[in-house]
Amino acid sequence: MVEDFILLNEGKAKLKVPNPAKYLRSDGVYEPSWAPVFYNPAQILNRDISVLALSAYSAIKGGSLLLLDAFSGTGVRALRFFKEVPGVSLAIANDLSERAHKLIQENISLNNVEDHVLATSADANALMHIIKSLGKTIHYVDIDPFGSPKPYIDSALWCVRNGGLVGVTATDTAPLSGAKWRAGSRHYDAHLNRFQPPHYLGLRVLLGYIARRAASMDRYVSPLVSFANKHYYRLILMVGRGALRADEMVASKVGYLIHSPAKNELMIVRELRELWDIIKGNQNLGKEVMGPLWVGELGDPEFIGNLRKKLGEEYDYLPTYTEAKELLRILENESPYELTYSITEIARRIKVNTPKVQAVLECLENEGFKAARSHICSACVSTHATFKVVEDCVKKSSQRTSE
Ligand SMILES: C[S@@+](CC[C@H](N)C(=O)[O-])C[C@H]1O[C@@H](n2cnc3c(N)ncnc32)[C@H](O)[C@@H]1O
Repeated sequence: MVEDFILLNEGKAKLKVPNPAKYLRSDGVYEPSWAPVFYNPAQILNRDISVLALSAYSAIKGGSLLLLDAFSGTGVRALRFFKEVPGVSLAIANDLSERAHKLIQENISLNNVEDHVLATSADANALMHIIKSLGKTIHYVDIDPFGSPKPYIDSALWCVRNGGLVGVTATDTAPLSGAKWRAGSRHYDAHLNRFQPPHYLGLRVLLGYIARRAASMDRYVSPLVSFANKHYYRLILMVGRGALRADEMVASKVGYLIHSPAKNELMIVRELRELWDIIKGNQNLGKEVMGPLWVGELGDPEFIGNLRKKLGEEYDYLPTYTEAKELLRILENESPYELTYSITEIARRIKVNTPKVQAVLECLENEGFKAARSHICSACVSTHATFKVVEDCVKKSSQRTSE
């Protein structure tokens, strides 16, 4: 007989989770959403990076931390945060589902952490507002719902303390990335279209939306780590308070993307007046405008460097150690650049063989532009260089090498 539940370890937490063998699709792949309580091994990298980020934050902030895992499932995040991050005094593991709540309680007992991990069962929005109204200071909120995080962004920004962190997972990548651009435009109050590489757009639409919601509350956000992986996006943001800083953020980090491969154009525009002038000068470009979206850095290279250091020195036991190390290395290098190009897509359009990424990077360097590989796709580069420069480099490099 196949058991209903199994025991496993993730990081330093012991967990009782639904037996994956009972929820297999016809192709043999485990489908976590069929299980009575959600636990997805495909999200371990997401959780490992979150543990590292909280650990780096804890080291900077000092003192004791109060955390809210608002969509806890089995309780895995709250348990891992308490057991693996120094300085956590209380982690609240919340889930609306009664079955999840019961399993969280069992997992708290299994780990003997009754004094430091608290199971609650409430709607996440209601709970965040109650916590805020009680005057409690939350240092970190984790938002990991099914699909879009949009319904929970306002409450998370509202309840987190000044200088605290919010971690957001989104699995609605098709709307965000422009593949389902009508839905994305409606859900995220932006004008979207199809885009290559899609996840560049998706991350920036999500960040832009969160930044605008923060600004509406006289708050601002600074992305510490943002990445796309498999079927999800993950952002870890610092949230600060202050109308002036919110104004500055909107003016410098929220803008528009003009994307017209046919006209060799990929351009970031920060000001509405500038956008207006461009469209007036070339009315066809009006159709190619996307946004508002985030046009600033996707991460803080210094913070990401800290995570890499911590990974090597204190967290070499993490289940996704090798993957996390490689991801953080790429994110640290690509963070400063605002544009990301798909070499494959450009090569396809100008009808040349796809060149080696390294050859394109060297060509850009020779043209005076710094550039780095991007995690967004295996043949993507991030740089400040214009579309024309990158296209020329793809052409030149293709004559020399191809992948
Ligand atoms: C994607 S799963 C969370 C997975 C978990 N964070 C992890 O890392 O394994 C989403 C969870 O949110 C819960 N949920 C759905 N709607 C909710 C709501 N409005 N408030 C709180 N929890 C909710 C579901 O029961 C489910 O367990």
